[in-house]
Amino acid sequence: MIKFFAGNWKMNKNKEEAATYMRKFKQLVQDTKSEIVIAPPFTLLETVSDACKGSKIKVAAQNIYFESDGAYTGEISSDMVKDFAEYVIIGHSERRKYFAETDEMINKKIKAALLAGLKVIFCLGENLTQREKGDAKKVVEHQLLGGLKDLNELNDIIIAYEPVWAIGTGKNATPEQAEEIHAFIKLQISKFYGKSMANGVKIIYGGSVNPENSKAILKMKNIDGCLPGGASLDPVKFSQIIHSV
Ligand code: PGA
Repeated sequence: MIKFFAGNWKMNKNKEEAATYMRKFKQLVQDTKSEIVIAPPFTLLETVSDACKGSKIKVAAQNIYFESDGAYTGEISSDMVKDFAEYVIIGHSERRKYFAETDEMINKKIKAALLAGLKVIFCLGENLTQREKGDAKKVVEHQLLGGLKDLNELNDIIIAYEPVWAIGTGKNATPEQAEEIHAFIKLQISKFYGKSMANGVKIIYGGSVNPENSKAILKMKNIDGCLPGGASLDPVKFSQIIHSV
């Protein structure tokens, strides 16, 4: 399977920084076969999407609201994002934690995104307490089924396993820990959607991925790519991660 890399810039960079980054990054990744996505903040969607023209790099928004339009001050709909991006990240743990997003809201957002024709990078993962209690799989299963509720197929969905305890902490899951959960997710998808759907869905890993650990992570059988945050802010580091396959 072709590997998939999405760089989540989170709440970082201004217009000039984004343009400089993109000029450099495009050159660094021009000969890779992997799929590459950059997820800038809303304010930079146009800058990044303009910079991506003529290259294979795609753009993702970091969030959307589930309503299509109306009086929702400060929110952005999937149709608005669609002008600039092909993908959207939904269910990131920072949205769950700081903005109280529930599985139900995430499910609504996934449906709205798919309806608008966006592809979804659907994030899930347990926190440290849940892992230490031995509940990682239970939590992941709950988030997976909650987020995908009522969906009949997963053709435009990429699943990102991001254990919360490994995000921005420098503490990444070992390749084996990640692989165990990825295999579990695949099994669950196979149970609910059938084997061929499960084999077609990409499951990527996120949580302190960097050029030093990416090679070992990407070697695992059920890890189809990565979602780096911090390391994706530097075009050289992100390209090194991409080149580690
Ligand atoms: P990190 O972020 O690579 O900085 O840990 C990953 C993410 O939150 O997507």
